[in-house]
Amino acid sequence: MDDPRTIPNHGDAPPVHWRRNDYSRIPYWLYHDPQIYAQEQERIFKGPTWSMVGLEAEIPNPGDFRTTFLGDTPIIVDRAADGSIYAMVNRCAHHGALVRREPRGNAREHICIYHRWCYGLDGKLKGLPFRRGLKGKGGMGPDFDMADHGLPQLRCESYAGVIFASFSAETEPLADYLGPIFRSHFDRIFHKKIRILGYQRQRIAGNWKLYLENTRDTYHGTLLHEFHTTFGLSRITQTGGVTMDQRHRHNLIWSKIGTDDQAQYDAVYKEVRDDSLRLLDPRVVEVKPEFDDGISLAICAIFPNATVHQIGNSLATRQVRTMGPGEFELYWTLFGYEDDSQEMTDHRVLQANLVGPAGLISMEDGEAIEITQRATVAEMDDCSVIEMGGGGKITSLDHRVTDIPVRGLWSYYAELMGIEPEGAER
Ligand SMILES: [Fe+2]
Repeated sequence: MDDPRTIPNHGDAPPVHWRRNDYSRIPYWLYHDPQIYAQEQERIFKGPTWSMVGLEAEIPNPGDFRTTFLGDTPIIVDRAADGSIYAMVNRCAHHGALVRREPRGNAREHICIYHRWCYGLDGKLKGLPFRRGLKGKGGMGPDFDMADHGLPQLRCESYAGVIFASFSAETEPLADYLGPIFRSHFDRIFHKKIRILGYQRQRIAGNWKLYLENTRDTYHGTLLHEFHTTFGLSRITQTGGVTMDQRHRHNLIWSKIGTDDQAQYDAVYKEVRDDSLRLLDPRVVEVKPEFDDGISLAICAIFPNATVHQIGNSLATRQVRTMGPGEFELYWTLFGYEDDSQEMTDHRVLQANLVGPAGLISMEDGEAIEITQRATVAEMDDCSVIEMGGGGKITSLDHRVTDIPVRGLWSYYAELMGIEPEGAER
């Protein structure tokens, strides 16, 4: 350890001995510990946060539903007959079975296959077989009240067509939770009606927080992802930056293609790039201008489970679904706009090759997370060194040679978990 000091936390979660109070040293056991994981489900996923659960464009008609997860909890999101959107726990009140097993569909009600208990689109219990018994025998007792046995409801709000849900009555309104910076980014990406193009799913054998770090870690972007550097979609020499909200829970990494020149590129990447590589289909890196601000790459991470990306003309949301301390599912929803030409739709579908489990860019992120999880398990008392960009104040920057958004993430995480060190950076 380069700094033997330990700074005790003052919360009631398992004790964390932070070696520094600016979140530049993250103990590895936080990625592995089952007690921490259980605490995260309570304090984060069921705590005062909003988690993305889908897009309004996925459920345009009454009766449309999709299933998802909020942390470990299975969720149904649907649109009722009056057009309103509900989010409810996908678990039958009778015996705890999943009520909906399909990823999506359209229905008038949700019926559990186990004993056919039937719930309305608002989650209320509508009926159950043999409630009054048969021939005067059996059935539910006289005290049984249907109103007490619906599917538990979550708070549900949308912004710019993106649906979020929260278990906590204390969570601020969604618009405030996003704040002005991220509302304006949502307004930018979702500035007109979207059309869902498809889905990708992947299991990653690593802790879910490694993915939250990854989507705030701009340092790795042009080093791990050689495709980016080689073919110019994103280089650290381009104009770009990192932008956080005031509490540093959300982060936007952005850059503009065509803002560096060959001399700058040569100076930085000459030693590492492979000039012999050629694309058989260069359209995969062709950015068709569609935003006035010239931003060609925008990775927008919303705490705790959502990412919205623009990589060239590839647009998608990504949702983290926790599956225990050592595994999570990443769920990608690719979209374009309703008024896209066929040519533009084809272009976006072609650029879907950049992302997802086998994406020319994204595949390395899964690998980077898995090798971190694997290598840290034996040295849980050791810690990472998150110091690019220096220690001290956590702040937005007009460059990307920094790890500061990762420290911002941990500062908010520690606050929610009740494990902030004394004198912690916020
Ligand atoms: Fe990455």
